[in-house]
Amino acid sequence: MLSGKQAGSVLFAASLLLFSCQSEGDEGLMDITYRFEKPANFPEPTYTFENNPVTPEGFRLGRRLFFDPLLSRDGSVSCSNCHQQGLAFADGPQHPFSVGVDNQLGIRNAPPLANLAFKREFFWDGGVTHLDFVPTNAIENELEMDESLANVVDKLNQHPEYPALFKQAFGVDTITSPYMLHAFSQFMVMMISANSKYDKYVRNEGETLTDEELKGMRLFEEKCGACHSGELFSDFSFRNNGISTTFSDEGRARITEHPSDIGKFRVPSLRNIARTAPYMHNARLKTLEEVLAHYASGVQESSTLDPLLNDGAQLGILMTDEEQAQIITFLETLTDYEFIADERFQNTQ
Ligand code: HEC
Ligand code: HEC
Repeated sequence: MLSGKQAGSVLFAASLLLFSCQSEGDEGLMDITYRFEKPANFPEPTYTFENNPVTPEGFRLGRRLFFDPLLSRDGSVSCSNCHQQGLAFADGPQHPFSVGVDNQLGIRNAPPLANLAFKREFFWDGGVTHLDFVPTNAIENELEMDESLANVVDKLNQHPEYPALFKQAFGVDTITSPYMLHAFSQFMVMMISANSKYDKYVRNEGETLTDEELKGMRLFEEKCGACHSGELFSDFSFRNNGISTTFSDEGRARITEHPSDIGKFRVPSLRNIARTAPYMHNARLKTLEEVLAHYASGVQESSTLDPLLNDGAQLGILMTDEEQAQIITFLETLTDYEFIADERFQNTQ
């Protein structure tokens, strides 16, 4: 993690830059709302902006698509059904597994959406390797929106408003799927969550952490930081954290077909984690207390269990009850209230 001091000076340089843009006049000011800005404490983005720069028109179009059930087979399910802003774009506890058209149950817990421009691989098993391809999976998945990409494009071309919106965003007369996918990505790359209490603390923006939160932060770095590392709280590797001994969902092995990957899932980011219960790919754990208890005393052995959770003498991570509570107190500082209330991500057409 960056020290507060380092982060602060990077931010200072960034704000100078921003200031010089703002003084260019009203037009410059307006653009800032929809400009991709890397938070000072974040790594470089991985998204290919050179092929798809964010514009206000493209962003708004992506937003409209995200909230539109027209994209599903029977017009009943939009992306926002399973990814709700108030829950950091995860799904609620009443849906441990996502619910698609005809109330069909999916096989995994819908993950929160944030900081997607910084990820290289998507889904619990890393099965999608570019953000532009994610919507196709959701639309065509028969347990989610169950519609073909070709039908979606037809519906959009016949719609009274979409053709004009695509014309404004991309200058095209006919809608094709690559433009639709680019609009989606322009919306999704802007979903940056970097204004939690923790962020403002590390960037020296006048926020302080309480003694308990600081103790929790140090414990977190020591006990959890090897996997949930850096400012995104993930090293983005695939690991088995001992949630089960047998895996009906083989996880990473579904992609690599390698037995040594059975039961491995992508280390998830922990940003906004207090909002995104239930936890784990299979929604096995309902609360953060259960998660901490899992790491302390519930880790189950299997041939692919991560070595960090098995030192030969005992399974799991040694933690007292008090330490577990302190780590939870720290995790609560990762909730970004600005992000979950940001009007740019709301369904205003
Ligand atoms: C029926 C519920 C449902 C709908 C509808 C849905 N999703 Fe998802 N979404 C999920 C689930 C479940 C996953 C995890 C899939 C997996 O790991 O196999 C996911 C994963 C994702 C991810 C990957 C996040 C990450 O960090 O890896 C993105 C991005 C995403 N969805 C965006 C969308 C978009 C855009 C739409 C609309 C086109 C959409 N979703 C519609 C349930 C849904
Ligand atoms: C060996 C690597 C490793 C260590 C160490 C580790 N985790 Fe995890 N963590 C993972 C993996 C992998 C998953 C996803 C597993 C799954 O979905 O089946 C995960 C999932 C989670 C989740 C659920 C996230 C979600 O979106 O559902 C939470 C919360 C979490 N870990 C917190 C912690 C805390 C707190 C610690 C320290 C006490 C910790 N982890 C230590 C690898 C690790």
